[in-house]
Amino acid sequence: MSDAKFITVQEALKLGTGKVSLRGWVYRERGSAALKFVVLRDGTDIIQCVIKKDVVGDEKFKDADKLQVEASIELHGTLHEDKRAPTGYELRVDDFTVVGWSDQFPITKDQSAEFLLDKRHLWLRSRKMQAILKIRATLFSAFREYFDKEGFLEYHSPIFQATQAEGGSSLFSVKYFESVTYLAQTWQLYAEPAIFAYEKLYTIAPSFRAEKSQTSRHLTEYWHAEMEVAWATFMDIQDYGEGVIKHMVRRVLAEREAELKILGRDPEKLRPVLEKPFPRMTYTEALALLKEKFGMELDWGKDLRTIEEDKLSSLYDTPIIVTEYPTIVKAFYMKQVPGHPEVVQGCDFIAPEGYGEIIGGSARETDLEVLKEKLTEQGEDLAGYDYYFDTRRYGSVPHGGFGLGMERIVSWLCGLDSIKDAIPFPRTPARWTP
Ligand code: 4AD
Ligand code: MG
Repeated sequence: MSDAKFITVQEALKLGTGKVSLRGWVYRERGSAALKFVVLRDGTDIIQCVIKKDVVGDEKFKDADKLQVEASIELHGTLHEDKRAPTGYELRVDDFTVVGWSDQFPITKDQSAEFLLDKRHLWLRSRKMQAILKIRATLFSAFREYFDKEGFLEYHSPIFQATQAEGGSSLFSVKYFESVTYLAQTWQLYAEPAIFAYEKLYTIAPSFRAEKSQTSRHLTEYWHAEMEVAWATFMDIQDYGEGVIKHMVRRVLAEREAELKILGRDPEKLRPVLEKPFPRMTYTEALALLKEKFGMELDWGKDLRTIEEDKLSSLYDTPIIVTEYPTIVKAFYMKQVPGHPEVVQGCDFIAPEGYGEIIGGSARETDLEVLKEKLTEQGEDLAGYDYYFDTRRYGSVPHGGFGLGMERIVSWLCGLDSIKDAIPFPRTPARWTP
C-alpha cells in the first residue's frame, strides 16, 4: 500500500466518510484482547482510529497491541461519524504499518514546568505547543503582510554589533577572534542608515538582552519585529504600531479560532482590539491617572515599572500608548520634544491583561550635537558611533520607528502564564538548553 495517497487528519475530518489513508503519531492508545483504540495526531488535528483483530488478522494485531504513545504509523481504512470520538469521527482500520516504534514516552500527565522545559524537544509535540506555534507563525506572517502592503522593504542588520543602543548593561559580549563584539539588542542603528536609500523598512530577527531579571516577560534571546521609516512624524509611528497590532489580532481571530480554543483563550477578549482606537496618553497624564484611580504616587522622572504598567493596563481592554517619557529614562536616540528637552517623543504600547510593553518606539533625534552629548553622558566612546553620526550629516530627515517583541504579543494573544511558552526553545538567564 506504499503508493497510497495520504491526506491530513484535518482533511479527513472535513470529508467524514469514505476510504482514506492517514499517517502520524500515536497521541493516545488503549486496547483489549481483540480491539485497539489509537488516537492519531498529525500536524493538523487528532482522530480516533479503531483496529480490530478480526479485520487485520492475528499477526498484525500483535503489532497494534505493542503500539506506544508517539510511535509513527500509517493507517488505511474507512471514515465514520462517531459522536463519542474526541473529534467526532473515527477511522475503522483495514490495514496499518508501523513506521517508527516508540520507547516509553517520558512525558506523561501532570509534569512540572521545569521537566517540560528539559524535554522541550519532545514537548513541542503537545497540543498546547502546537497551538501556540501555529498562532506564532500567523503573527509573523501578519506582521510581514501589513508592512509589505504599506510598501515597506524587508531589510536585515548585522547581529554582531560593536556598540550598544539600549544600554550597556544588557549587552552580551562575544569573543570575536582576538577582539570582542556584542550581540544585537536591536537592528535600529543599522536600519537608520538604510532609510536614506529605501525609506520604508522592516525586519523580524533575533535580539539579545543580557537582563538578569527572571520574569514572565523577559527572554535573553527574543524575536524582534522592527520598522524604520523616513519622513515620519511621531504620530505616524504610533499609527503604524496600532495598525500592525490590529492586523495581527485580526488574522489570529480569522484563522486560529481552533488553536485559541485548545489554549482555553476566549476570542471575545481580543475583539475590542479591532473595534476601538487605542487610548493615547502622555507619561505625565499616566502618572495623574495612577494617582486618581489607584492612589499610587510615582515621582516624576521615574520609569514606569511592571506594577504601574499593570495598573494602567487594567483600566482598558485594548493596548494603550504612553508617550513623552522623561528624557532621562529613555534611549539616547529619542527625539526631544521641541521646547521641552526634559521629555522625548518615545512611545510604549502596553498590552491589556498585564502582558506589559509590547512595542517600544520613537521619533529619532536629528540634532547631532544632542546625540553626542547624550552618549558622552553615558560614558560611551563616540568613535564607535561615527558611522551612525553620518546619518545626521548627509541629508538628514525626520524619521522614526519601533520594535515589537514577538514573544510578548504571542503571550498576550495566547493568554500564556510565561513568555517561555511563546518560543520553541526559550533562553533565559537560568536556561539555555536543550
Ligand atoms: O523597548 P525596546 O528596548 O526598544 C528597542 O530596542 C528599539 N530600538 C526598537 C526600535 O525602535 N526599533 O524593545 C522593543 C520591544 C519591547 O517593547 C518588548 O516588546 C521587546 O522588544 N523586548 C523583549 N521581549 C522579550 N524579552 C526581552 N528581554 C525583551 N526586551 C525587549
Ligand atoms: Mg522599551
